[in-house]
Amino acid sequence: MLAAAVTAWCWIPAGVLGALSVLGLWDILQRRHSVLRNYPVLGHLRFLLEGIRPELQQYFIERNYDGRPFDRDVRSLVYQRSKGTDAEEPFGTDRDVYAEGYEFLVPSMTPRPVPDKPPMVRVGGPDCTRPYEMALLNVPAMSFGALSTNAIVALNQGAARGGFAHDTGEGGLSEYHLRHGGDLIWEIGTGYFGCRTEDGGFDERQFADKAAHGHVTCVALKLSQGAKPGIGGVLPGSKVNAEIAGVRGVPAGRTVISPPYHRVFDTPRELVLFLARMRELAGGKPTGFKLCLTSRRQFLAVCKAMLAEDVTPDFIVVDGAEGGTGAAPPEFADHLGTPLTEGLTTVHSALVGTGLRDRIRIGASGKIATGTDIVKRLIQGADYTNAARAMMFAVGCIQAQRCHTNTCPVGVATQDPRRARALDVEDKSERVRRFQEATVRSAVQIMASMGVTDPADLRPHMLRRRVDATTVLSGAEMYDLLAPGELLADPPRTWAEDWAAADPDRFTV
Ligand SMILES: Cc1cc2nc3c(=O)[nH]c(=O)nc-3n(C[C@H](O)[C@H](O)[C@H](O)COP(=O)(O)O)c2cc1C
Repeated sequence: MLAAAVTAWCWIPAGVLGALSVLGLWDILQRRHSVLRNYPVLGHLRFLLEGIRPELQQYFIERNYDGRPFDRDVRSLVYQRSKGTDAEEPFGTDRDVYAEGYEFLVPSMTPRPVPDKPPMVRVGGPDCTRPYEMALLNVPAMSFGALSTNAIVALNQGAARGGFAHDTGEGGLSEYHLRHGGDLIWEIGTGYFGCRTEDGGFDERQFADKAAHGHVTCVALKLSQGAKPGIGGVLPGSKVNAEIAGVRGVPAGRTVISPPYHRVFDTPRELVLFLARMRELAGGKPTGFKLCLTSRRQFLAVCKAMLAEDVTPDFIVVDGAEGGTGAAPPEFADHLGTPLTEGLTTVHSALVGTGLRDRIRIGASGKIATGTDIVKRLIQGADYTNAARAMMFAVGCIQAQRCHTNTCPVGVATQDPRRARALDVEDKSERVRRFQEATVRSAVQIMASMGVTDPADLRPHMLRRRVDATTVLSGAEMYDLLAPGELLADPPRTWAEDWAAADPDRFTV
């Protein structure tokens, strides 16, 4: 109107402004792209850059993305799978197959037909009365607080539709976890959020009440996570709104720091007995613990305690140093903790060597995002896997790495309701389901190419690694694996000292 009143030339800027307004309105109303809902018009720059990436690769994008936690190819694959546009690649691999560290899986001359249904894993040892069928890929612990309400709801709805498990994380069991009926693993950490006494201890009654909920299928005790072993969770005060404070049982607005250690146990034996108590309180549901491996000796001490008490957890989740977090000091994220390969092979081997492996299922997490990752971890000793950041990509994370600032641009890791509303639950939950399904299908296809339909038939020699220009080693040669019961009968030289020193009544490093 102003344009008409002033001069005809003003129609040009008026037209541009009008078009941008229409585009902005469209961006806010559409549901597929959270970044556009939060940043109408401007958000298109991101897609523009993505579109011309090949030309800018060397100069710009590569510097910004490739050094980050997940490389561009993996993220793109997760996005494609979650959107249902999983494409084949032309022209062959762009990996350097002669580079040191290159890993490959060994195909068979007699590939098997791909099974119609992916295998599931029964979790539940001899003391568990309500075993759970676990999928090969699940949503691991990410608490309400680190993630937004909409992200939690979308993950849970995805899990419900796809028939896989969703771990609550240590931030308590909220109504967002329960809304869609996805199978839950309720995790408690050193803060005992959701079952916490006033002075921060473990409240048995609250725990039993909540663990009895029909959607809670397993319960887990978090000892540590790979991104920050040895320090408790940190939830910045800016994220602790009244609702989160209510779920956790803490004051609103104040940074919540979980203590680095548990009050409920001091020794390996006490740990094992506490797990037994948790299972009892949870009405016999599968009970386990999660850790980033510390020393082999400490883990063997826990095995000795299990043997001495004849009590085993139903599952152990091994998290690698490469695993993700909402917030951690960089020194911890970069330099503390055992990487997944060493953690997993050690835990698996220790359980085999002590004759306990049949009673305990092992889960693995740490940068798992593809079918190859799943198969590789199964070969190294896992029974099932979890993917945290890959699931975040599926709900729209763009790896902006603002999780700790409450300003996540796509509403995934924020408690700002305006930002969180950009995440469309219906669209993103379907992406979570599709990503999990396509990734598990890929793992099953890979196994079939290797001549395997049952993951139990995978063997360490099926994974190979180039260690220099002319040498390739197999998993059987690289990992210090034990035969069933070997530690009890005749510990090999490489394990004997740790085995002898492991004390079920003391954690020695
Ligand atoms: C945003 C975020 C929040 C997390 N919160 C928890 C938590 O509450 N408890 C826990 O045991 N691990 C937590 N983790 C760690 C994950 O459960 C998982 O161990 C780790 O991220 C695996 O690595 P990945 O992200 O490479 O899959 C969190 C990770 C992320 C990314």
